[in-house]
Amino acid sequence: MVKVAILGGSGYGGSELLRLLLFHPQTEIKFVSANEHAGKRVDAVHPNLAHLSDLKFEAMPDTSSLAAFDCVFLALPHGQAMEIVPRLPAGVRVIDLSGDFRLNDPDIFKEFYGREHNAMEAQRRFVYGLTEVNRSQIKEATHIANPGCFATALELALYPFVASGMAEGKIIADMKTGSSGSGAKAAANTHHPKRANSFYAYKTFAHQHQPEVEQLLASVSKLTAAHSLVFQVHSIPVVRGIFGSIYITTREAMTTQQVGALMREFYGNEFFIRFAHGSPDINWVKNTNFVDLGWAAQGDTVIVFVALDNLVKGAAGQAVQNMNLMFGIEEKTGLVIPGTNP
Ligand SMILES: NC(=O)c1ccc[n+]([C@@H]2O[C@H](COP(=O)([O-])OP(=O)(O)OC[C@H]3O[C@@H](n4cnc5c(N)ncnc54)[C@H](OP(=O)(O)O)[C@@H]3O)[C@@H](O)[C@H]2O)c1
Repeated sequence: MVKVAILGGSGYGGSELLRLLLFHPQTEIKFVSANEHAGKRVDAVHPNLAHLSDLKFEAMPDTSSLAAFDCVFLALPHGQAMEIVPRLPAGVRVIDLSGDFRLNDPDIFKEFYGREHNAMEAQRRFVYGLTEVNRSQIKEATHIANPGCFATALELALYPFVASGMAEGKIIADMKTGSSGSGAKAAANTHHPKRANSFYAYKTFAHQHQPEVEQLLASVSKLTAAHSLVFQVHSIPVVRGIFGSIYITTREAMTTQQVGALMREFYGNEFFIRFAHGSPDINWVKNTNFVDLGWAAQGDTVIVFVALDNLVKGAAGQAVQNMNLMFGIEEKTGLVIPGTNP
């Protein structure tokens, strides 16, 4: 059994880690922390877990006490993990859901996260946890920087085109997210009257997931396509889900069938990547670790559609998938969960 600690268990990412890990046959949740909710029962904060767990949230622990665990999940706001990771006992494996350790350039980190990075030495130990692309490195890793939710969707949609050299020139990524992407704490721009029935764009040319996508694409290709990425995010009035329409110019004309062949070449054996007929739908991936991809092609333009659940494949689910690989556990363990219809 893998002995697990979750730091930040009272948030939305932590909620999903609890939901998945409580029923994972090879893990035991030994510790779960909260900040304002410290001292409460887990099911007082996450009523969906009533009758399923007697765990209680504890205050943030002394880092030395974390030596008792095999794997520590960090589901904390940006900036917290970089304070904690350098002080963790050697031997503890770490999976960080935040953006703190995804970028290997401190200047780019500062530009997009608005703060200095003070743990770049520790950053060098991290493997970027895009499971389907970095699987062999993840198996050997001690530290995982779990990708962002938009980034996971966009990278998986683009990877076959960039890695094969088929993408050329500008890529336009038109991405949408539900409100749970902003976390559990209400804020003026995320609470219900603002978000319900609304649809707006935000963080134009400034979203923090853009540089991690560019970094990943640069690592799998010598093309400059990654540097002409236009990445625009929108808020849509749903709770869970990321949907993207990604416009790619290809080196030569492709048919829809040829795009299908390319997708099968890269993802034909991937359990968590499914191919939709036409457009995928956030409803079919909700609460699951699946990523649904659809596509259409005309001349040298391909549109790839992608849907995933921001809290599962975009956060906790991919984190558990990575934990499985790190501990030699079958990759799908604890993650074979059907969605619902409707
Ligand atoms: N939401 C998503 O879709 C998503 C997807 C991918 C990655 N992520 C990343 O995952 C991380 C967690 O996101 P989230 O949506 O779960 O956020 P969240 O709902 O706001 O939860 C944050 C958690 O951190 C705790 N916390 C806050 N301030 C703290 C402090 N000063 N010291 C110790 N603990 C503190 C909170 O405890 P209390 O509630 O008890 O105060 C809570 O458990 C973020 O870095 C986020 O960017 C989120």
